[in-house]
Amino acid sequence: MLKVESLSKSFGGQQILHDISLELQDGETTVILGPSGSGKSTLLRCLNLLETPEAGALTIESDTVRFGGKLTDESVRTMRRHSAMVFQQFNLFPHYTALQNVALAPQLNGKLSKAAAEQQARELLTKVGLEHRMDAYPDHLSGGQQQRVAIARALAISPDYLLFDEPTSALDPELEAEVIRVLVDLARENRSLVVVTHNMAFAQKVADRIVFLAGGRVSYNGTPAGFFSSDDTRIRKFLNVYELIEYKI
Ligand SMILES: Nc1ncnc2c1ncn2[C@@H]1O[C@H](COP(=O)(O)OP(=O)(O)OP(=O)(O)O)[C@@H](O)[C@H]1O
Ligand SMILES: [Mg+2]
Repeated sequence: MLKVESLSKSFGGQQILHDISLELQDGETTVILGPSGSGKSTLLRCLNLLETPEAGALTIESDTVRFGGKLTDESVRTMRRHSAMVFQQFNLFPHYTALQNVALAPQLNGKLSKAAAEQQARELLTKVGLEHRMDAYPDHLSGGQQQRVAIARALAISPDYLLFDEPTSALDPELEAEVIRVLVDLARENRSLVVVTHNMAFAQKVADRIVFLAGGRVSYNGTPAGFFSSDDTRIRKFLNVYELIEYKI
């Protein structure tokens, strides 16, 4: 379970997230939607403590951290063990092969020997359809392939929650499709996923829960069916933009 209680976050005196409370169940796929600047990335980064909220609390599984003072390194380490983040821009190590990228973290954190980490990396790269590209460097991989390596790397630390910040928005449509395929597989395996995306088909068909942020507040938290049929003005305005984009092409 991932629980956020009354979380607030400001940058330079400007409050970005206001009193966010959420409870996500294990095995669920949650899609976070909202207009640009509504705080989606900031919220995701708070879940992984890449940002430190000023107030509130975060619980993942049996560990809780309360915000308000300086966090100890130990509590940051403890909380980070529970989740792994996949970024829009992949962020692979350029001087490491796909295999080395995926095998690195479990060795650094002492969980696996080199041989075991490499064996796991081979299995994970096979799972994301890259068994033929294990020894390639990121520069020699397409964006879709790089993002699949990044997903395998996130899986390698066996996180409870996988966090994705617009994992496909740097990709052409056909490369987006191959990354979405991997996300759908993970969702069907009942992994716990939190995905910020503009892919409305994924949100509508794959998510168990939609969280809609507007102005740094949760303005919808419920089923995709409820979201996509909502007559709330802000939600309709948001969805209309996507309909316009589709019709324009
Ligand atoms: N490190 C930072 N310092 C100052 N302001 C920031 C920082 N990060 C984000 N912000 C501000 O916080 C607000 C929310 O940003 P955030 O990136 O979370 O939005 P978002 O919903 O992810 O938007 P997008 O859809 O464009 O990615 C924005 O006004 C942004 O300018
Ligand atoms: Mg963002």
